[in-house]
Amino acid sequence: MSSYVTKKTPGDTAWFTHDRFGMFIHWGLYSLPARHEWIKTREKISEEKYDKYFKYFNPDLFDAREWARQAKAAGMKYAVLTTKHHEGFCLFDSQYTDYKSTNTPCGRDLVREYVDAFRAEGLKIGFYYSLIDWHHPDFPVDMLHPRRDDENAEQLNEGRDMRRYAQYMRDQVTELLTNYGKIDILWFDFSYSGHVPPEGKEWMKGKGKDDWEAEALIKTARDLQPGIIIDNRTEIEQDLWTPEQYQMTEWLRDKETGELLTWEACQTFSGSWGYYRDEMTWKSPEMLIRMLVNTVALGGNLLMNVGPTSRGYFDYRAEEALKVYADWMKYNSRSIYGCTMAEPDLLPMCPADCRFTQSEDGKRLYVHLFAYPYKHVQIKGLAGRVDYAQFLHDGSEVLFTERSVNHFGDGLAEGDDLLVLEVPEVKPHCLVPVIELFLK
Ligand code: GLC
Repeated sequence: MSSYVTKKTPGDTAWFTHDRFGMFIHWGLYSLPARHEWIKTREKISEEKYDKYFKYFNPDLFDAREWARQAKAAGMKYAVLTTKHHEGFCLFDSQYTDYKSTNTPCGRDLVREYVDAFRAEGLKIGFYYSLIDWHHPDFPVDMLHPRRDDENAEQLNEGRDMRRYAQYMRDQVTELLTNYGKIDILWFDFSYSGHVPPEGKEWMKGKGKDDWEAEALIKTARDLQPGIIIDNRTEIEQDLWTPEQYQMTEWLRDKETGELLTWEACQTFSGSWGYYRDEMTWKSPEMLIRMLVNTVALGGNLLMNVGPTSRGYFDYRAEEALKVYADWMKYNSRSIYGCTMAEPDLLPMCPADCRFTQSEDGKRLYVHLFAYPYKHVQIKGLAGRVDYAQFLHDGSEVLFTERSVNHFGDGLAEGDDLLVLEVPEVKPHCLVPVIELFLK
């Protein structure tokens, strides 16, 4: 068994750390302007103008089964959908607001369709729920709010009652965790109590756990679905640490106790979470695969985001990116599922331009070749420990020698502990080839 033990948390993370790879879905009214999911506040759009998106929201091509099929093909095992993002628009038929998909030309409970379709494909179900709400009349105007620079911004705050808003969140979370069967993940987003308001504008203060009444909110969720995985962005530690838009270089640890943490990186295909038509910074196929491997190599999960169009489908760039994962995962998922960081004694042996992952039971070690080497992969320290080696994508044997590069006997590379894997000169037809080592 893996020697890595993570800090105990209230939810059930066993399935989660096995499955490793999920799909994040950011969908809402912002898919119409198609200029980032923060558009309402970035451009300080008025309610009246933003209402146009509500009026014309009509995802006529939405087919949740098609989304689920693509997620599954990509090797993703779970998904997290924005049931409500910061704009406040709900993709479900909530009885506590009129600001919901069922009241637009769309007329459908999109959360229901998502849940049914993804569950039918055998994927686990996650709900993202925004703590921030730029539509709710009780949510105060603060530094992130679209109305922050209005002349009467301070007056706009009169009568706004955060307690009522906190109750609204509990009511909606109750709906979400009551009406859709078993929900596996609840992803709250996000706290910013560290924001310091400009002098004289204390009413613009940031928000955190006390504002959300996070303890009661989490209790509401746990009472309804005890094993559910909850993230930490309410500002109260739960199950999941969520580094966003950067690549970790080591396994996350608790700052005080040093314990390893359960973590999930979240990333986008391009720079934005919501559909952004003119965004050009789409990641290369190699980078997509490397990000997944890097994450698992450090004991984490990857939640990769898709921002569907306002007509309800994944645009061609997102489809292509998902296809990159599908093609690679079809043959290489064994180095991802049920795998984690290589054991401490093996970790330092990882050759340049490679990444190790290791199966939980410790019996298989995977060498991911990020840069394809010329003829040999040399692993110092591993001689005598490998029983059999093969490429993972086609199960073809990889011959190896031990203790020296067996070449004219001139011993350019030598050492009692050297393992030398012989790889073909031409890189196999696989974006990131993986060598599977069965350990003795
Ligand atoms: C950020 C953003 C948001 C996105 C989220 C995903 O906190 O506010 O737009 O939903 O990250 O992790």
